[in-house]
Amino acid sequence: MLSTFRTQQGGEPVFDAMHRPELSRRFSWAIPNDAAIEAIAEVAAGRGIVEVGAGTGYWAALLEQAGVDVLATDAAPPAPSLGDDHNLWHAEASTWVEVHHVDGATAAADSNGRVLFLCWPPSINDMALEALEAYTGDTVVYVGEWTNGATGTPAFRALLDAEWELVRTVEIPVWWGREDAVRIYRRARPVNC
Ligand SMILES: C[S@@+](CC[C@H](N)C(=O)[O-])C[C@H]1O[C@@H](n2cnc3c(N)ncnc32)[C@H](O)[C@@H]1O
Repeated sequence: MLSTFRTQQGGEPVFDAMHRPELSRRFSWAIPNDAAIEAIAEVAAGRGIVEVGAGTGYWAALLEQAGVDVLATDAAPPAPSLGDDHNLWHAEASTWVEVHHVDGATAAADSNGRVLFLCWPPSINDMALEALEAYTGDTVVYVGEWTNGATGTPAFRALLDAEWELVRTVEIPVWWGREDAVRIYRRARPVNC
């Protein structure tokens, strides 16, 4: 019974506490819905996506099912045989699509007109900032938090704020205490200005 799962335990609903770690590890740290996939597919139509820090590639798999050409990349593509330390966020997980072994900044620099896609980029390193700085295209899709700051870094969000225009936000289901959403940005000023 959902009502039972939703009883509080240590401040957090039991359902979330029980299931979030395993679902995040095997699928994604963000929960996709149809509206999110449709909005991203629409903005990527005809040019495709380069995803950095793709993890298991679960969002990439859903986007491919929606007809989008996705190049999924990660610095440590998850794999069942590589041990807990290989990828801290997706230990011993399998991938849903091929996830290429490429650093985020390198993948973003080689985007070739694709939309840059970041879903729950780490808050503990500069991957999101470095990918955004390296990217020369005009559209970014960021799935993550804005005020809570569990995803990306303050410097990453400051660069988005300064040089990119938020053109669309799509709500997605969130885990208890989180406020992540899909945010679609267009470049507000030319590169190197
Ligand atoms: C919180 S997980 C999110 C994964 C996936 N996008 C999701 O939503 O489930 C962060 C991912 O970023 C990757 N990562 C960390 N630093 C990176 C870097 N410098 N370049 C590319 N990927 C990186 C990690 O390996 C991990 O898979």
